[in-house]
Amino acid sequence: RTASIVGCPFSGGQPKLGVDKGPIHLVEAGLVNQLEELGWNVKFDGHHQFEDIKYALSSSSSIDPSAPTASSAANDDASTSNHWDPPIGILKNPRLVSRVCEEVAKVVSGHAKNGELPVTLGGDHSLAMGTISGTLDAHPEAGVIWVDAHADINTAATTESGNIHGMPVSFLMGLDGNHQAFASFKPGPSPSSQTPFAWIKPVLKPSSIVYIGLRDVDAGEKKILKENKIKAFSMHDVDRYGIGRVVEMALEYLNGGYAQGDSKPRPIHLSFDVDALDPSVAPSTGTPVRGGLTFREGHYICERIWETGALVGLDIMEVNPSLEDDVSVKQTVAVGCSLVRSALGETLL
Ligand code: ARG
Ligand code: MN
Ligand code: MN
Ligand code: MN
Repeated sequence: RTASIVGCPFSGGQPKLGVDKGPIHLVEAGLVNQLEELGWNVKFDGHHQFEDIKYALSSSSSIDPSAPTASSAANDDASTSNHWDPPIGILKNPRLVSRVCEEVAKVVSGHAKNGELPVTLGGDHSLAMGTISGTLDAHPEAGVIWVDAHADINTAATTESGNIHGMPVSFLMGLDGNHQAFASFKPGPSPSSQTPFAWIKPVLKPSSIVYIGLRDVDAGEKKILKENKIKAFSMHDVDRYGIGRVVEMALEYLNGGYAQGDSKPRPIHLSFDVDALDPSVAPSTGTPVRGGLTFREGHYICERIWETGALVGLDIMEVNPSLEDDVSVKQTVAVGCSLVRSALGETLL
C-alpha cells in the first residue's frame, strides 16, 4: 500500500515559534526510509509551504497595512497578528488557520480517495480541521480516535487563550459557540474577506470521536464534553483499566451499532498530539502536561489500531524542535517517528 506524507510546517494555531519545524525534523530523521523498510510505498512530494496562501491573504487585504497591530509585545510570539489577519473576537490568525486547513483538507481527501493512507505531520493541532475534514470527505463513516492531554474542543465562546489549536474539534462538529463569533463578519469577494471556517462541513458527530489521554481540560470544555455525551478516556481511566482495556473500549464504542457488510470494522482516523505522552517521553512540545502516557502506552495505541486494519488517516502533531535542549528534541522527534511506524505496522516480534 501507499502512504502519503503530508508535511505541514504550520504554527498559526498557537503562539510558540518552532512547531512549524516539526515535520521537517521528522522527515530528516528518516521517516520515509523507515516506512519503506516496513514495506510501504511512500509518497512524499516535499512539505507544503502555504506561502501562496499568506500571499493571497496579505495582498487581498482591505485592511490598512500601516495601521498599528493590536500588540507587539512578547516577540517569541508567533501569534502576533499579521495586519492582514487581525483577531476575530480573541481568535488569533483566524483567516490564515482557516485557509491552511482548507488546503490540507483537499490534499488529505485527494490522497485518501486515491486509496492512499495520508500521514500528516504537524505543525500545530489546528491542522486537524483539515486532516479530519479530508478523511471524512473520503470515508464519511470514519470514526476518530483523538489522543491528547487536551480536548481541543473550545469554541469561540469558551476559549480563554484564543489559540485555535485548542478548538479544532468544535469546528468539525459545528458547535453552537462558534456561530455567534462570525455572525457579524462581513464576507467580501477577496480571500481575506471570506468568513473563516465557513468551508468546514460539520461532519464530525459527537458520537464519532473518542478521546484517550485527557488530563488538562478547560471548564468550558468539560461542559461541552458532558452536554454532547462525548466519549473520553482520561489518564484516570488509563490508570484504572490499563491501556489495553481502554483501547478495546474505545474501539468497541466506535464500532457499536456500526454495521457495514458483515465483519468490516469502521474506518479510523487517529489524531495523535505528542503532548498526550508524558513530558519525560516527549518533552519538546508547546503545551506539556505532566502525568501523561508512557512510551509503551502511546505506542500500544498505535499498534492496536494498526491491528484492526481500519486505519485510514493519521496525524502526528505538536512536535516543536525549538523547545528544550538538543537531547530532548532528538528524543521527541524519534518518538514521533516511532509512533508513525507503530501505526503503520511495525511489530515488536
Ligand atoms: N485548552 C487550551 C487552549 O484552549 C490548550 C490547548 C492545547 N492544544 C494543543 N493542541 N496542544 O488554549
Ligand atoms: Mn502530497
Ligand atoms: Mn495537546
Ligand atoms: Mn492537541
